[in-house]
Amino acid sequence: MPVYQHNLKDKKIDFNTILDKVRVFAPATVANMICGFDILGFAVDEPGDEVKMYRVAEPGVRIRSIVGDGGRLPLGADRNTVSACVKMLLNDLGILQDIGVEIELIKHMPIGSGLGSSSASTVAGLFAINALLNNPLTKDELMPYCVEGERLACGHGHADNVAPALMGGITLVRGGADLDIVKIPVPKELYAGIVFPQVDVPTRDARQLIKEKVLLKDAVTQWGNIAGLVAGLFQEDYDLISRSMQDVIIEPSRAILIPEFYAMKEIALAHGALSFGISGSGPSVVAVSKGPEVAELVTTKIQDHLSANGIESFKYVSAVNVEGPKVLSFND
Ligand code: HSE
Repeated sequence: MPVYQHNLKDKKIDFNTILDKVRVFAPATVANMICGFDILGFAVDEPGDEVKMYRVAEPGVRIRSIVGDGGRLPLGADRNTVSACVKMLLNDLGILQDIGVEIELIKHMPIGSGLGSSSASTVAGLFAINALLNNPLTKDELMPYCVEGERLACGHGHADNVAPALMGGITLVRGGADLDIVKIPVPKELYAGIVFPQVDVPTRDARQLIKEKVLLKDAVTQWGNIAGLVAGLFQEDYDLISRSMQDVIIEPSRAILIPEFYAMKEIALAHGALSFGISGSGPSVVAVSKGPEVAELVTTKIQDHLSANGIESFKYVSAVNVEGPKVLSFND
């Protein structure tokens, strides 16, 4: 069923079963999967964000603290995307005036990294409130609130980060008002080698660089690649995945924001990556690889190259995270 056809009118919340506290993790994501701008994405095991949520006596939703954001995120309940989305959900359930909730957000990844930082926080917050309320909503029902969080965070409601962050695995986004989120099978040996060069690229800015018009020949190449990638994922055909994960539309505009992009690409492909490109809107880059060894080698070589050029970086090597968000604890 399209995501927006769910409605919460018939949900009954049993106040006797609401929990006192919950601690939740939601994963980072690699949006676009190189060729599928705004429609494809996958979740990774690390990094990710945590939300601790507490039920309190005083009604309303408040942010208690944010750790790991360097003071950049707003604490006001209507401006912070986590609390704003939780408020929206409680309002639609008709219980915003009746329940008190306080939130601690613990960020384990930088803002503006291209790893779906805001999405991980939003998804963690919505997964946490659902857990606190004793899971009255399905993930499909939570999805529209996650998309709203993305709209608040960067001015555009693309779902290619929030969808895999919430659903886990690899997801395909189709439609707008009739949004479908489709899960795609995950080939067992598909690994991501991610390198985050220490520069800040806000998604808003990275989106402004993209040309509004594309040539038909480029569009044909790109939609062939998207279809080839989806087929390759279904068939576990790593060669087809490799040939298909190429971006002739967005990467040429955005690569200039990322230091050493084309040198990193050469290193990745020379050391066996299936494909290399920008993770989300950058500056993180991703070497999609068959097996962890290649991902490990490629990311090490890329980091060596960046260090030699005076650029600090973080790296993460991960299989595709098929679980999505999870409860870490009900006690702290
Ligand atoms: N699809 C988005 C973009 C992901 O590339 O701008 C970043 O949020």
